[in-house]
Amino acid sequence: MPPTFKKITDSQVTLSILMQPSHSNFSGKIHGGYILSLMDQIAFACASKHSQSYCVTASVDTVDFRNPIEIGELVTLKASINHVGRSSMVVGIRVESENIQSGFVKHCNSSYFTMVAKNEAGETVPVPGLLLEGPDDVRRFLKCIKRKEMKTERRTEFNATDFTVENYTEELRHQNVKII
Ligand SMILES: CC(C)(COP(=O)(O)OP(=O)(O)OC[C@H]1O[C@@H](n2cnc3c(N)ncnc32)[C@H](O)[C@@H]1OP(=O)(O)O)[C@@H](O)C(=O)NCCC(=O)NCCS
Repeated sequence: MPPTFKKITDSQVTLSILMQPSHSNFSGKIHGGYILSLMDQIAFACASKHSQSYCVTASVDTVDFRNPIEIGELVTLKASINHVGRSSMVVGIRVESENIQSGFVKHCNSSYFTMVAKNEAGETVPVPGLLLEGPDDVRRFLKCIKRKEMKTERRTEFNATDFTVENYTEELRHQNVKII
């Protein structure tokens, strides 16, 4: 029987990988898709550790690539649970890249992956609650709730059945588009 509540530190995962030439794109920088795949892997590991169940990726929050990553740099991904619902877990991931010669570290991106715990029959299962150990943990938890609310609002506002162009003509007047 898994514990009812678990600490964030119990499931934190760190992964460091040296960037190889085979991970690069045509301009010689590391391929964004490769970094996304690593982020998905660490999100899976972190969520599985917390839930002690098999997990699937339900959604990925915006990923802004802030800085390019070069071949030969050491990329470190850090993942921790920011929020839990009944069966879902939001995993916060930070990606940094280090030039090994100079020791210079740059923040490359951060994102939030929502993972859902499932049983062998493919049904969603409850996950342990989260023990929040200070204001930063509480802040991150609340931020996830707000992000979820904003996502629902966005989905509702642009629901295809209720949408009318007339409500947005003024807003679109200032955009680089023409409605034909
Ligand atoms: C994500 C998935 C498990 C949701 O299943 P579902 O039958 O809709 O289940 P529910 O409605 O009961 O939702 C289960 C949980 O997932 C969350 N969830 C579902 N869709 C979500 C989404 N798009 N974003 C964030 N959370 C989501 C729900 O909020 C709920 O959270 P809670 O239990 O903490 O309250 C299901 O759609 C699925 O298996 N998707 C495919 C996942 C996959 O294959 N990923 C890899 C892609 S290559």
